[in-house]
Amino acid sequence: MAEPGHKRHAPLAKPASDLSPDLSSLVGRAWPQIFEAMNKSQVTILVAPTGSGKSTDLPQMLLAEAQMRAPATKILCAQPRRIAATTLAAYVARRTKTNLGDLVGYEIGGCKVRSDKTRLTYVVAGIALLNCLDCSPDFDVIIVDEVHTRDTLIDLLLAVVCHTVLKKLPALKLVLMSAAMDKEHMKG
Ligand SMILES: Nc1ncnc2c1ncn2[C@@H]1O[C@H](COP(=O)(O)OP(=O)(O)OP(=O)(O)O)[C@@H](O)[C@H]1O
Ligand SMILES: [Mg+2]
Repeated sequence: MAEPGHKRHAPLAKPASDLSPDLSSLVGRAWPQIFEAMNKSQVTILVAPTGSGKSTDLPQMLLAEAQMRAPATKILCAQPRRIAATTLAAYVARRTKTNLGDLVGYEIGGCKVRSDKTRLTYVVAGIALLNCLDCSPDFDVIIVDEVHTRDTLIDLLLAVVCHTVLKKLPALKLVLMSAAMDKEHMKG
């Protein structure tokens, strides 16, 4: 029983979500140029060193921007490995002070942690491919991360997105990211 005079504390409020990205990373500092490049063309190629914030800061910055201007915008971030998709989603959800599966979620084969509220979904390449096969992905921005990996699924995803989906959906944006990629080769 509480002692007389003891003040009951109000239950802790759930912290408000915080979408403000870390602008101190290399990718964070380059955000104005990246954003400008994305506005100018349908495909953006981002090559930046390991640890520069490609997989975490860039999707978070896109999410923050979209939440301000067009909150229905959906971002898909394809990863070559399941573990990357799940840990990146958990990390970005934590950083945005949201519950995993709300604004930020993931889907890997056989496991979905996302909802109608999810606006940034980390997936494996196979799931991204499934979303693109009918040429009407339910996403406005598709990020293909670690694009230098060039495994069969990533190659198929790139072929489907570049040869059909982008042509059918002129408003769709594609971002290709890597720490080690030949930009000239990817332009072909
Ligand atoms: N799950 C995590 N937990 C804690 N810190 C993380 C996590 N994921 C990334 N970070 C940190 O966030 C920063 C940016 O990492 P990020 O993965 O976005 O870099 P990157 O440019 O994608 O690197 P890479 O080319 O190696 O994939 C790094 O300092 C990294 O240590
Ligand atoms: Mg990365």
